[in-house]
Amino acid sequence: MLRGLAQLIRRNNPLINNVLNNQKVTMSLQKHSRRIEGLDKNVWVEFTQLAAEYSVVNLGQGFPDFSPPNFVKEAYTRAINGDLNQYTRAFGHPPLVKMLAKFFGKLMNRDIGPFSEMLVTAGAYEALFCFFQALIDDGDEVIIIEPYFDCYEPMVRMAGGKPVFISLRPVFNREELQVIADLCIEHNVLCISDEVYEWLVYDPNEHVRIASLPGMWERTVTVGSAGKSFSATGWKIGWAFGHKCIIKHLQTVHQNSVYHCSTGAQQAVAEGFEREFEHLGTPESYFICLRKELQVKRDRLAACLASVGLKPIIPEGGYFLVADISEVDVDLPESTETKEPYDYRFVKWLMINKGLATIPVSAFYSSDSKNNTKNFVRFCFVKENTTLSKAEEILQEWSRTRKVQ
Ligand SMILES: Cc1ncc(COP(=O)(O)O)c(C=O)c1O
Repeated sequence: MLRGLAQLIRRNNPLINNVLNNQKVTMSLQKHSRRIEGLDKNVWVEFTQLAAEYSVVNLGQGFPDFSPPNFVKEAYTRAINGDLNQYTRAFGHPPLVKMLAKFFGKLMNRDIGPFSEMLVTAGAYEALFCFFQALIDDGDEVIIIEPYFDCYEPMVRMAGGKPVFISLRPVFNREELQVIADLCIEHNVLCISDEVYEWLVYDPNEHVRIASLPGMWERTVTVGSAGKSFSATGWKIGWAFGHKCIIKHLQTVHQNSVYHCSTGAQQAVAEGFEREFEHLGTPESYFICLRKELQVKRDRLAACLASVGLKPIIPEGGYFLVADISEVDVDLPESTETKEPYDYRFVKWLMINKGLATIPVSAFYSSDSKNNTKNFVRFCFVKENTTLSKAEEILQEWSRTRKVQ
């Protein structure tokens, strides 16, 4: 009876109708799932936008400002001209999964099933997402070693998991990896190993795949990225491999979310790996050439940072250098509204006032640890030498004006 009356009033009164409709719209605009509550902040969205607005030189986000090697670019063009423009197999283009299985099978000295133990994803990012969605239940604890790629935490939370953080000391060697492996085996824990920088391990260090340690294949998913491997981050091709009993669950998430990745890009990556397989361990290998080039860039940027009082921590791998900014005196007003950590404010100041974009290191730590890392800033060195020269000029000019004051 009451519902009937309300309908009658609504039908006959456009004003009430408008109010009710607007309320509905407002309510629907406010509605979001509990899964994403509090996960809206993202360091890349914030700093990429600021960098585009203010920076002259961008050493922020981790991507090369140079081209991928010709052999993969040409393979991509061939794929598209050769009409590889339609869907392919959902869990990975057959030539790519076969090539990846052959490549990593050789490196790990084991047979990897191309169709059951290898999944191609939209970048390493999607592989991580599939793992967390496929294997975490509400309330499951997930140990995250910090510093971590920032998306691990929201991805775990979205899946209903509870992140537990453990801080890493600067050295991470084979023995320590073995301790982690032994703990995984003892406590029957699954391991996800994000190895997107696997080729970029600098002399005299070696890359140790945790999945290759005894007893770990059965419980590890290894994640990789063609974007990082071939300096083509915009292609967004990645992979996850591991025991077929685990990979099948990641396939389930993939088929119900992304389902399929670009056929042409997968073909190009397959050909890229084929070429790398032929040149494995030789000076012609792109992976080896890139590593050597980057080692020089790393040392060059480290020397510059040290010369201007930003104490660098020399990385053993990857394409980032972290510098301690505690000895550089910059008067940064504290914003009472945002309560931003010092490194966030320093990075914004450096970008707006000096035109140099970097990334605050506390973005890669949990809220409880952020305070201990507020004096560190990350510089990306996978950049053209001309870009690094411009960054050096900015830093040196800034250092001169500091000394004059
Ligand atoms: C540690 C780490 N994992 C995963 C990714 C994502 O890789 P992709 O671009 O292949 O999705 C990145 C990208 O910066 C990364 O640094």
